[in-house]
Amino acid sequence: MIIVPGPASRELGERIARQLDARTVDVFVKRFPDGEYYIRFKARDFQSEEVVIVQTTAPPQHDSLIQLFLIVDAVEDFGAKSVTAVIPYFAYARQDKRFLNGEVFSVKTVVKLLKNCGVNRIVTVNAHNPKVLETFNIPVEDLSAIPLLAQYFKKEGLVKDAFSLSMGKKALTMASEANNVLKGGFDYVPTQRDRITGKVTLGGRELPVENRDVIIFDDIISSGGTMAKAVRMVKEQGAKKVYAACVHPLLVGNAEEKILENGAEAIVGTDCVPSKVSVVSVAPIIAEVLRGGE
Ligand code: R5P
Repeated sequence: MIIVPGPASRELGERIARQLDARTVDVFVKRFPDGEYYIRFKARDFQSEEVVIVQTTAPPQHDSLIQLFLIVDAVEDFGAKSVTAVIPYFAYARQDKRFLNGEVFSVKTVVKLLKNCGVNRIVTVNAHNPKVLETFNIPVEDLSAIPLLAQYFKKEGLVKDAFSLSMGKKALTMASEANNVLKGGFDYVPTQRDRITGKVTLGGRELPVENRDVIIFDDIISSGGTMAKAVRMVKEQGAKKVYAACVHPLLVGNAEEKILENGAEAIVGTDCVPSKVSVVSVAPIIAEVLRGGE
């Protein structure tokens, strides 16, 4: 197996390769004055190899996506036996259907392009809607980084008997996975999204958080608005320390500031999206699934 750490996930790709004791092939990337990418492989002996490309598609997602398409297509040209795309953060996954008449179906288009370029298998982490990804006739493995996040809190001793919350009822499995590690009980913060404005409102339901340390888990923190509101809500309900945990810390604009100003002790994220809060690595779970597929 050969690992190609893509430009958007070099460190994670190298970590995965170290765990698998696999060879890596680096790519040289430069940009032309007009913004187009030039990519060259530092070696190209892919003939009959299982090739794994690790490339997140967090913002700037269009750059990461086009780099991924170019790399996959070339690896196929160079004779790879199979091409697995490890896409820790899967861009456009939130547009997982046509919510309103006339809308595009973005996630379908992205998968179609990946397949056409030569991807045989996708590995992703806490994709927004893995069930939809699986409908496009390509093997998809969606892993959960929630246990790793929960283990981090436990190992670092940041919280005592922490209560785990997910953002919304649909994501309750996240809180339950965290509770399997933290054992302090779990529930969800009720959320409602306006389909037209995208604005999220939180239900005013009472949660058993008084005098408790609380960790709020979400798949994505983008603008930080949803997490900031949830932190404020549990603080107002009497929680002691509140942490914001997420798999994909996109942290657009002043997201971090917003969440901290509303009372969070800190934000903890994973290297699915490299950022200054990405202290938990998903390399072990990705290496494990790749090892299983060897
Ligand atoms: C929504 O479906 C996701 O799980 C996140 O709650 C959402 O993407 C967070 O967005 P923002 O940080 O912009 O409020």
